[in-house]
Amino acid sequence: MPFKALWITETGSGKFERNIVERYIDDLPAGEMVIRVHYSSLNYKDALSATGNKGITRKFPHTPGIDAAGVIEISRNERFAVGDEVLVTGYDLGMNTCGGFGQYIRVPASWVVKKPENYSLKDCMIIGTAGFTAACAVYKMELMKLQPEAGPIVVTGATGGVGSLAISILSKAGYEVIAVSGKSNAQDYVTHLGAVRLEPRDFVTDTSQKALLKPKWAGAIDTVGGNTLATLLKGCMPEGCVVSTGLVSSPKLDTTVYPFILNGINLLGVGSAETPMNVRVTIWEKLASQWHIKDKLPAIAREVTLDELNTTYIDNILQGNIMGRIVVNLNNL
Ligand SMILES: NC(=O)c1ccc[n+]([C@@H]2O[C@H](COP(=O)([O-])OP(=O)(O)OC[C@H]3O[C@@H](n4cnc5c(N)ncnc54)[C@H](OP(=O)(O)O)[C@@H]3O)[C@@H](O)[C@H]2O)c1
Repeated sequence: MPFKALWITETGSGKFERNIVERYIDDLPAGEMVIRVHYSSLNYKDALSATGNKGITRKFPHTPGIDAAGVIEISRNERFAVGDEVLVTGYDLGMNTCGGFGQYIRVPASWVVKKPENYSLKDCMIIGTAGFTAACAVYKMELMKLQPEAGPIVVTGATGGVGSLAISILSKAGYEVIAVSGKSNAQDYVTHLGAVRLEPRDFVTDTSQKALLKPKWAGAIDTVGGNTLATLLKGCMPEGCVVSTGLVSSPKLDTTVYPFILNGINLLGVGSAETPMNVRVTIWEKLASQWHIKDKLPAIAREVTLDELNTTYIDNILQGNIMGRIVVNLNNL
């Protein structure tokens, strides 16, 4: 039986086309699990893959989609049964393995996580890689014993996917959150997610050449990189934690060692795609219990069809025009 998928093809001289086509399960790569995908979500990486970025996807034709949630139709692994509701985020899904922008995926069992009972498949995709990354960041801060009493936590790129979910999780975990955004009209949005206040990007931009600044935050989850990340390190309270998750402004980091050797700042990193399965399961359990954020998810999500994803939203995320998360409904195509 054919199924629908977004299909990226190389047309020559560096040009790429994307169409919704019919494909067959037998066309998918080998794997122990066949999953009927009900929802996926759009991440920046997907847009890069969908426009032919060979740093993300080496070989075309290809179906992007680093996130997928659905129901198992074939299982060759005793941990999972036909009919189980599951999710996959990261690993090679959507990179060089056909991903969640198709109605079926075939993947190794070692990539699959059981859906937490108190989230729907759609909820899991509103969270998706962005929310999982934000949760990994909070998890790492807590491993360093950072407590809410230490002081406020700054979240940069606050209206983006990682930022929106980071605000929601931190606030649920009891932290005071300062949202930093380039959108001056985002006050109501970030307050609803749990931030105590909104600051402009200048709040975390320093061009003074000073090695350290007056400490204003106990930690930060940064999606921006470059000067923003350097400023977050300089302005962090002693023994604080700054987590680098992204590079929307720059992959560079120009810093001295003073934040580390004088203030004991911890610079932490998240590479969510390769998170080991035992940590992955622990983090989803936290998202289903003390970090349960189901009440925040409707405000973060916009649901779109595969067609709308193709014609509008892939371009929008590349232009930085998205607020929150784009969830793709793959049912009833
Ligand atoms: N480490 C990992 O495992 C992992 C996983 C997922 C994503 N990421 C990375 O994390 C970053 C954010 O991902 P996302 O899914 O949240 O992306 P997104 O939804 O596109 O959000 C990015 C946000 O960053 C802000 N921004 C955009 N351009 C900026 C600039 N030049 N300077 C400062 N801020 C800017 C905007 O928020 P405001 O308008 O509110 O400022 C924008 O909404 C990306 O670099 C992505 O590759 C990493």
